[in-house]
Amino acid sequence: MKVIAVASQKGGSGKTTLAGHLAVQAEMAGAGPVALVDTDPQGSLSEWWNEREAETPLFARTTIENLKSDVDRMSHMGIKLLIIDTPPAITETIATVLTVADLLIIPTRPSPHDLRAVGATVELAEGLDTPLIFVVNGATPRARITSEAAIALSQHGTLAPSIVHQRVDFASSMIDGRTVMELNAASKSSEEITKLWHYVQGRIDGKQATMSNQISKATTPKRSFLNDSAHV
Ligand SMILES: Nc1ncnc2c1ncn2[C@@H]1O[C@H](COP(=O)(O)OP(=O)(O)O)[C@@H](O)[C@H]1O
Ligand SMILES: [Mg+2]
Repeated sequence: MKVIAVASQKGGSGKTTLAGHLAVQAEMAGAGPVALVDTDPQGSLSEWWNEREAETPLFARTTIENLKSDVDRMSHMGIKLLIIDTPPAITETIATVLTVADLLIIPTRPSPHDLRAVGATVELAEGLDTPLIFVVNGATPRARITSEAAIALSQHGTLAPSIVHQRVDFASSMIDGRTVMELNAASKSSEEITKLWHYVQGRIDGKQATMSNQISKATTPKRSFLNDSAHV
């Protein structure tokens, strides 16, 4: 079983939105059974899940005290992926979650306040040797601040190549316990989550989907038409 923690000290950055969406997408992509844990006392992810009609992903109720042993139990029960949502600013909770996580996702809005808040979460993860990735969430299409945020973040860690934009369906789909993929599988929002999950899966499976891989693929074509006798 792989464990993904979604954390950032800043409220409203998109932790709960991404935790729910990635869990559903992972399940759709065949990476399940997927389970969710909500460690935020506000319980937004639990409330979303309670509204949900679909049976998957599963939801596990646990406490910070029991987290480690419950994670072991879920692994023995055959859960393949666990995604843990966390509260903003409760450092002890986030630290405990990071001790069981294989990967930390830090969602960040492309704003100075969010960027300033990233440091504390990064420090916590680095202290515990938890690999981390940043996800830019809530970006305005074509806004220059998005690329500025991306550059700033890339100085501190790996940035997921799929940016999640500000779109009303990310909020509206969650009202009745669904996700953008379940509202319209062909939407731009769905495409972003599909791409994001693909990247995250590569990271937890140890495969690196890096830009340099893409470059080497692009510069060595399998077959050049110049070598093809039909075209000489
Ligand atoms: N990409 C997005 N587009 C539109 N609304 C979003 C997006 N991401 C999050 N939201 C909305 O912003 C608010 C905060 O998001 P949430 O996931 O609850 O953040 P956190 O869990 O980090 O506090 C919610 O109302 C959510 O519906
Ligand atoms: Mg939340």
